[in-house]
Amino acid sequence: MVLLDDPVAMRKADEHGMLEFYMRWPDAIHEAIERAMAIEIPDEVRTRKGIIKYGQPELFAVAGMGGSIIGGDILSDVLQGELSVPVQVCRGYGLPAWVGPGALVVVISYSGNTEETLVAFSEALKRGCMVIAITSGGHLAGFCRKTGVPLLAVPGGRATRMSFPYLFFPLLVFLERFGLAKGLRERAEKTAELLRSMAEELGPERPAQENKAKELALELMGTIPLVYGFKWLRSVAYRLKTQFNENSKIPSFSNWFPAMNHHEIVGWEAEEELLRAFSVLLLRSRNEPPEIRRRIELTKEIALGKASKVLEIWAKGSSKLEEAVSVLYVGDIVSIYLALARGVDPYRTRSIDALKAGMAELKIAEKVKKAIEELI
Ligand code: F6R
Repeated sequence: MVLLDDPVAMRKADEHGMLEFYMRWPDAIHEAIERAMAIEIPDEVRTRKGIIKYGQPELFAVAGMGGSIIGGDILSDVLQGELSVPVQVCRGYGLPAWVGPGALVVVISYSGNTEETLVAFSEALKRGCMVIAITSGGHLAGFCRKTGVPLLAVPGGRATRMSFPYLFFPLLVFLERFGLAKGLRERAEKTAELLRSMAEELGPERPAQENKAKELALELMGTIPLVYGFKWLRSVAYRLKTQFNENSKIPSFSNWFPAMNHHEIVGWEAEEELLRAFSVLLLRSRNEPPEIRRRIELTKEIALGKASKVLEIWAKGSSKLEEAVSVLYVGDIVSIYLALARGVDPYRTRSIDALKAGMAELKIAEKVKKAIEELI
């Protein structure tokens, strides 16, 4: 087990420098915005099926898997109520039937080789959608070069999940560039500055008694975190669950208010020894609506006597975007400290790699490549 107050030992255990990279997220956000502003959006893309004109979209879709797509959910939660077009988040092989001509589909795969995402790319092009891809390389970059689909290239060599700034903030820029929202770039830049003010407080040099992230990681040790969010913190709860899975290598689950009050809450009637395995992590905001606050408080009372820990992360900032990203930032860093405290490498995800290798046998990427060649 690495002591969280020994920065030298932590640096050694965090071989791929995840923590150090999180300290540089504010700069990564600015860089991601600049890159998304700079890419050229063509007037049209031609395929054998016809000409795709890049105009005002009627639907904003985001396609991808895992750490590449979570930004789509967060965007949808944060901007609900201010976007004039629906947002469709597409996971899995293919796209829903209602994603067709008139839709802007941003296809994201950090590696560029995720088979489900490659299928979605090919399907979007076949259907005549306006497509933009975000990737660090792989097949997806190759498909863009072949088809003329605009490509936002992001720096490679890291894990997808730590590259969140490069995969999420460009979506906000695209919404603005396509005339679907206003003022997002400014909000994104303010978010970067908020994280800059938080980085040092959460960083490896700051001792555990003065460091909220280290303190939470130590509290969560030995428990299965149940993360509960609401509205604009709903998908952030899911993000934290996935970070506990992938970075800390533990089971974790998420849910949201008010939905969890209509089913999951009944599970808290179970035997004490069963419930002791869990900790509850509540994502909070000073701006939570009164009905949500009441639900959180009532649920907290129930969990207090039963879960092994009931913990909270309070959002910072003045917009929903800042609130969501500030909680995500704390939670992500907590999951890395938890990995180090548990003596596991936060970076490697062997089970995902093994599964992808097992799937390669079906040669789906090669089939998509052929389908794209036939389309141009
Ligand atoms: C890895 C991670 C995974 C991947 C997923 C899809 O850090 O978070 O969830 O994001 O397996 O791979 P990519 O992102 O390369 O398309």
